[in-house]
Amino acid sequence: MTFQLPQNLQTRPVTVIGGGTLGRRIALMFASGGSKVRVYDLSADVREAAVSYVEQTLPSVVADREGAAAGCAQAFDDLDAAVGGAWLVIEAIPERLDLKTTLFGQLDAAADDDTIIASNSSSYASRLMIDKVNHPERVLNMHFYMPPHQNAVDLMSDGKTDPTIFDFLRDELPRYGVHPFVAHKESTGFIFNRIWAAIKRESLAVVADGVSTPEDVDRMFVVNTGAPAGPFRMMDQVGLDVVLDIENHYAEENPDLPEGPRRLLHEYVDAGRLGVKTGRGFYPYDQ
Ligand SMILES: NC(=O)c1ccc[n+]([C@@H]2O[C@H](COP(=O)([O-])OP(=O)(O)OC[C@H]3O[C@@H](n4cnc5c(N)ncnc54)[C@H](O)[C@@H]3O)[C@@H](O)[C@H]2O)c1
Repeated sequence: MTFQLPQNLQTRPVTVIGGGTLGRRIALMFASGGSKVRVYDLSADVREAAVSYVEQTLPSVVADREGAAAGCAQAFDDLDAAVGGAWLVIEAIPERLDLKTTLFGQLDAAADDDTIIASNSSSYASRLMIDKVNHPERVLNMHFYMPPHQNAVDLMSDGKTDPTIFDFLRDELPRYGVHPFVAHKESTGFIFNRIWAAIKRESLAVVADGVSTPEDVDRMFVVNTGAPAGPFRMMDQVGLDVVLDIENHYAEENPDLPEGPRRLLHEYVDAGRLGVKTGRGFYPYDQ
């Protein structure tokens, strides 16, 4: 079935489902393009925290980007009310396929006919979430990294996504300070996450093999690339349990991947050293 692209974007809201770590950052970026953003979350505390985060962070994001304009964020506790009228709905709920599949069925039923519905999932193709969706042609992956600092966005088809959506989003998304890149075929880890996975994996292998230390690998990485931090410090920020889950997911698809990186991560996870969130990972942190 063909899809009629949304119109009147300036007057229609964007809705983010899930106001946690990523949802509130996605809301921030759309608000920085002048949009009214609706945040729906099952938790009242998270909804309110997400709106406060947008309100506090928006002025600096708007000041830093030419052409930006302050929109606003509003918390919603009713899914149908949150979704009705929106030109774009982005799902950012936990990384569980059963939850996402149920939610996508609800979103497809509640959204206007021309609403684009996207998933921010890090590791699941949107193809896996459309069992209960009647209009898969308006569904796709729209994967954000860590806005407002890392502003690339992967776009990926669910296998049935209307092709006009990709050109449309390539034109529209830069207004909100994010830079879309289209994966030309289904790919676990999309584009940049696959590359980043290889950097993490080899950094871990160098340490697991006894060739170097986390501190030295990070120092060399910073000296040679000019990046503000090396892979070990960045893994500590994400959480080593999460990094291990991600690597396990890649290993399920590709059994030839080396085990050393996963063994090293396991040692830290088993010792409760998960990174910044537990006060200790590869580095110590003040709690
Ligand atoms: N954290 C990251 O670095 C990162 C980066 C890119 C993508 N992602 C992806 O974004 C998604 C969200 O991750 P996160 O880290 O923001 O998670 P999070 O746990 O911080 O937030 C998820 C939120 O969803 C809410 N929620 C749960 N079920 C819901 C439902 N049915 N309806 C509405 N809200 C619901 C929870 O209350 C919670 O506030 C995941 O798919 C993850 O893979 C995460």
